[in-house]
Formats: sequence, C-alpha cells, structure tokens
Amino acid sequence: MNINANYDNLEQSYLFSTIAKKVNEYINNNPEKKVIRLGIGDVTLPLCKTVIDAMHRAVDEMGIQSTFRGYGPEQGYDFLREAVRGYYRKHNVDLELDEIFISDGAKSDLGNILDLFAKDNVVLVPDPVYPVYVDTNIMAGREVKFIDANGENEFLPGVNNIDKNIKADIIYICSPNNPTGAVYNKEQLKEWVDYALAQKAVILFDSAYECFISDEKLPRTIYEIEGAKDCAIEFCSLSKTAGFTGTRCGYTIVPKNLGKLNKMWVRRQTTKFNGVPYIVQRGAEAVFSEEGQKEIGENIAYYKENAKLISETLKDCGIWHVGGKHSPYIWLKCPNDMKSWEFFDYLLNNAQVVGTPGAGFGKNGEGYFRLTSFGSKENTKEAMERFKRLFK
Ligand code: MLT
Repeated sequence: MNINANYDNLEQSYLFSTIAKKVNEYINNNPEKKVIRLGIGDVTLPLCKTVIDAMHRAVDEMGIQSTFRGYGPEQGYDFLREAVRGYYRKHNVDLELDEIFISDGAKSDLGNILDLFAKDNVVLVPDPVYPVYVDTNIMAGREVKFIDANGENEFLPGVNNIDKNIKADIIYICSPNNPTGAVYNKEQLKEWVDYALAQKAVILFDSAYECFISDEKLPRTIYEIEGAKDCAIEFCSLSKTAGFTGTRCGYTIVPKNLGKLNKMWVRRQTTKFNGVPYIVQRGAEAVFSEEGQKEIGENIAYYKENAKLISETLKDCGIWHVGGKHSPYIWLKCPNDMKSWEFFDYLLNNAQVVGTPGAGFGKNGEGYFRLTSFGSKENTKEAMERFKRLFK
C-alpha cells in the first residue's frame, strides 16, 4: 500500500482547525476568561421560522407511509432546483434545471469538482484566498500558481496581474472575496471571462457571499457576465445566506455549454454522492420563498450592522481596514506592524478576541487579519470595546 504522498505537501492542519486548537488550549488554561470568537465565519442567528416550519412539515412526512422518502435524486429534488432557478431569474440569468446541482455546501463541491480535471492542468489561485482551493489541488498533486491580490490592486487581481509565463487552465475566483471582502464589478469580471474563453480555461466561481452585496450594480453571479456560461462553474451555499453552516445545503451550477463537464458531474455525483437529506432540501426551498427571503434579509442586515460597528471601531482606533460593506468579513492591517499570528496571540491573550490570521490565507495575507461580523451583537460590541481599550 502506498499512501497519497501529496498530503505531505500540505500545512500540518487545516487553518480553522489550527485556530480552534489554539483557542481551546487558551480556554483550558484560562477558564475564567470570556473568549469572543470572531474567527471562523460561522453564523450565530438561528434558522428563520419559515425554514424551521418547512423542515417540521418534512419530518412529519417522513413518518407517514404515503409521504415517506428514501434515496432522493443525487442532483437534488426538482422542487429545490426550481427554487434556485427562480432565484437566478431575479438576476436575469436563465438556467436549465439539469444545470443546477444541490450540494451539501460549497466547500465539498469546490473540492469534489477537481475529479473532473486532469492532473496536468495549470491552476491559478489568487493570494490571499479561502485555503480550500489550494489544499484540494495539493491533495490531488497539482501544482498551484498564484496571482497576487494586494493593496495595489485593491485585493482584486486582474488578468494583467497574471505572470506572463502562466497559461491558466483552472482559475479560482471568489467574489465577494473571502478573506478580504473585495468584490469584482461587471467590467472586471468580464475581463476574466474573456481571458478564460481565450485560453479555453474554466473559472471556478465561488459566490458563497453573494447575499451580502448591497449595490445592485455589482454582479451576484458570474452568469450576469456575457460568455460566462461558456467558461464558468459557480458554487454557492446557504451557509452564510440563511444560517445553514450546520444544516448543510448549497448548489453548484455546471452549464451545459461546458461540453462534457455537465454529464461528467452527473456521473461523478451519482457515483459518489447520495444527495442532501429531503428534510434539509425542504428547509432550503423555504429560504427562496417570499417570506423566507424577507426573514433571511433581516438576519443579513443584523450581521451587516455588526460589520459596520467593527469598521467604525477600527476607524476610531486608526487601524487600516477594508471589507465589511458587501461582505461579512473585515480585513485589517495588524496594528504596530505585527505579523498575523503574532497579532492573533496578542489579541487572544490581551482581549480574549479570536480572529483569523491573514497569513493563513496565503503569503500576501501576512501582516493582515480577518474579523467576522457573524457574532452576536452583544459579543461584537464587547469585542469592539476591548479593541478600543487596547488600541485607542
Ligand atoms: C471561513 O471562515 O472562511 C468560512 O467559514 C469557512 C467555510 O465556509 O468553510
């Protein structure tokens, strides 16, 4: 037996596992301290009523012979695919039902999709970015090339930032970006689409944070851009949109214009995936109802208020930062030129506030730090008071 030696090329543990371990150690050693977690982007508000009601009804159906369901379609039930299709229509994007695949969240599919691509593809990933893109390619033995996202390009690298020697085959884009909160406008995304079409590359577009976009002119889906259906796969999730981080449901769009990829994804999913539970899919369907949209809108507004408070506090403290406007994440420069992990320890030890070190998202994240607005209002307020005590 030979193991997959590519795992030796990974960091020892996944970014958010490392953070959780450090925080748990701190809590064990300092049980009297109240730690406030603004690290991993995990939601804190409960699921909204419409979703809960729909799931209750689905639970009852499962207990009755005539409405009980066993294996569901691997690609998702049509009722949910229709609901997703209706959501895209609101952004003037027409999808066919069998271009929509219900998933257990964007993270899994962002990794799983790599089953469809040959090993020798050149992968282009912005730095800093969500570590899953890099790690899953390393696991598969693929070499990853980076494109710098930095202050100069406002953390939105464009095709002109690509190293001249690189011809990308697989391009990752995350907009609104995790971790920086930067969002591409339509013109900027069009450049990426044109590049991908010219190179015959595929864009893997992560739109997990689209619901935080508050400017109607900014694209919520890459398919708002002409030509995108010929070169892009989109991954979205209800985790941040509707508080499904623990409930697990998302969707992936594989357009038929991408040739064999749509059929290959069906083949892959039917072989390796048994679909999302019926009860969860009924809850997800309710997210897209009129009432559901209203209720999740209120939750998103709550988190945005937190983001505003964080942003105002950082401004007060003279700490450089971006994001938080069309995104739940605030990206800041570590005060006093501290390194990312140094600041992580400093903040944990002196304010008992947990954030995410920018360096965990790539080399360009060094010296930066990410805070999330997904905490409760009370905790966010308290964390910001602690910031003021330390830095004002
Ligand atoms: C994050 O904090 O970056 C996200 O919560 C991670 C994820 O969505 O998997």
